[in-house]
Amino acid sequence: MERKYWQDTVIYQIYLRSFNDSNGDGIGDIQGVIEKLDYLETLGAETLWLSPHYDSPMDDNGYDISNHWKVSPDYGTIDDFKALLEKAHARGMYVITDLVLNHTSDEHPWFEAAKDPNHPDHEKYHDYYIWHKGKIDEHGHKQAPTRWRSWFGGSVWTYNEATDEYYLHIFSKKMPDLNWRNKSMQEDLKAMIQWWVDLGVDGFRIDAANHLEKNWDFPDGHPGYENFSSLPKHHEYLEMLGKELFTPNNLMTIGESGGASKEEALQYAGFDSNEFDMLIQFEHCWVDTDDSNTLTPGKWAKGEVDVPAIKQSFAKWNEILKGKGWNVIYWHNHDQPRIVSHYGDDSPQYWEKSAKMLAFSLYMLPGTPIVYYGEEIGMTNVDYKHLEDFKDVEVFTEYKNFMENGADHETAMKALRDRSRDNARSPMQWNASPYAGFSNTTPWMPVNGNFETLNVALQQNSDTSILSTYKTLLALREEEALAHGDLTFHDLDDPNNFVYETTGKHFDFLVVANFKKDPATFDRALLEGYTLFMHNQETSDASKNTLEAYEARIYRKAK
Ligand code: NOJ
Repeated sequence: MERKYWQDTVIYQIYLRSFNDSNGDGIGDIQGVIEKLDYLETLGAETLWLSPHYDSPMDDNGYDISNHWKVSPDYGTIDDFKALLEKAHARGMYVITDLVLNHTSDEHPWFEAAKDPNHPDHEKYHDYYIWHKGKIDEHGHKQAPTRWRSWFGGSVWTYNEATDEYYLHIFSKKMPDLNWRNKSMQEDLKAMIQWWVDLGVDGFRIDAANHLEKNWDFPDGHPGYENFSSLPKHHEYLEMLGKELFTPNNLMTIGESGGASKEEALQYAGFDSNEFDMLIQFEHCWVDTDDSNTLTPGKWAKGEVDVPAIKQSFAKWNEILKGKGWNVIYWHNHDQPRIVSHYGDDSPQYWEKSAKMLAFSLYMLPGTPIVYYGEEIGMTNVDYKHLEDFKDVEVFTEYKNFMENGADHETAMKALRDRSRDNARSPMQWNASPYAGFSNTTPWMPVNGNFETLNVALQQNSDTSILSTYKTLLALREEEALAHGDLTFHDLDDPNNFVYETTGKHFDFLVVANFKKDPATFDRALLEGYTLFMHNQETSDASKNTLEAYEARIYRKAK
């Protein structure tokens, strides 16, 4: 298999709204990204993944698109976008954007026509979406067709009086799902994709890729996720896009799909597949839940980090894709809490150390890495005080659910503070000036209260900062072609340690890390022939096979 340019790249995910505000409206924008290209290049980022930049009423921060052909005025203009492409390309960087194919905004012209029988284009657009007449209950009242639950909590159905029908939305009610069985809709989306490609976009991160097909028999069930997740036919749609657009245009494509089986992973991201180049799955993302919690259940209940589950998942995905497809490595994105608060320890004592430990544990692994903005300086979860401080649409439906489950306000707030997606969406902390140097006015989202001591400026000039650790690791990936390393995990069942060996161009590497406060040990025999290369605490005894709280080391031996 010949090597592809996207195998050795480092992807940096920019949540546009929160990265850098260039025009003083409190919202991050495209010119703001341009201003930071030096920073990004110095960090070692080569591919920029922009969260949705399209026009949108921002119910879900742009995943609800109301005009696919227009840049949101919050973020700038099409000329700003072209300038970003040009300037990034001039540096040898790539720009990939989010491609949201599962739904649009309810303010999209297609939906406006679809929902209104008097609209001149109603006939064409009605079937771009998914409609159902609903049921009549025993009292003669209209009822939603099924009890399927949306990913943001609440029903997937909303009633539309004008047509006397329900429309389906697996996310918020302002995000109606598109009907992928409709050929005309497919053609319109394909034309839109080609339009951005012609403009110079280098690829896409394909949102919610495994939800494109639904069970059109609409059987009842709760939550009913199996009726709109990973149904076989969605592969047909992806393969069509791959064959007609992604492959011929030599694009870099990363598809988002939770819960893929081994066979499916290869179907998506196998070298001989025509769907994507790389797959983003979430198996390692929520392995710290407390399943006994019934008040704020599921991902909302924080429990002990299951370290074996992380190791086993990384080892498994590496094994599945080895030689047959390509893996993505990442800690988190805009849908999970900040990683140092999630799997590390954000207390003053361990914040820096555990952030570096997490970096050592991930960024030596084979595959293409995705760094999430702010992760490189160890940004933490946010101490949101009031419910109104949150912005995420999901928070409000889930808060209601928690209250219905019997939770009190504080219990619900704790779950939101620990787990909500807003933790990872606060403004980038550039420096200690007001609003963290993100903006010169009140930002759309409160700045994390720790910005005066946790910011880029403070870390930029230090050789020992989290930021410099990231720079070193990302440069090492390139020098040693670590993306292609041959990975062996050790002690897959050990509850504390995280130990693996991998191979580079000139050296073999051994990474040993402790994910816990309690000491961890590893097999001393592994140290044979290795010398200490990097470590995350002031003094580290290279010969010791015990690791203190959150201690991590990287060893190497010449090949
Ligand atoms: C996945 C995205 O990552 C998430 O942020 C978004 O809310 C949903 N898809 C819906 O587009």
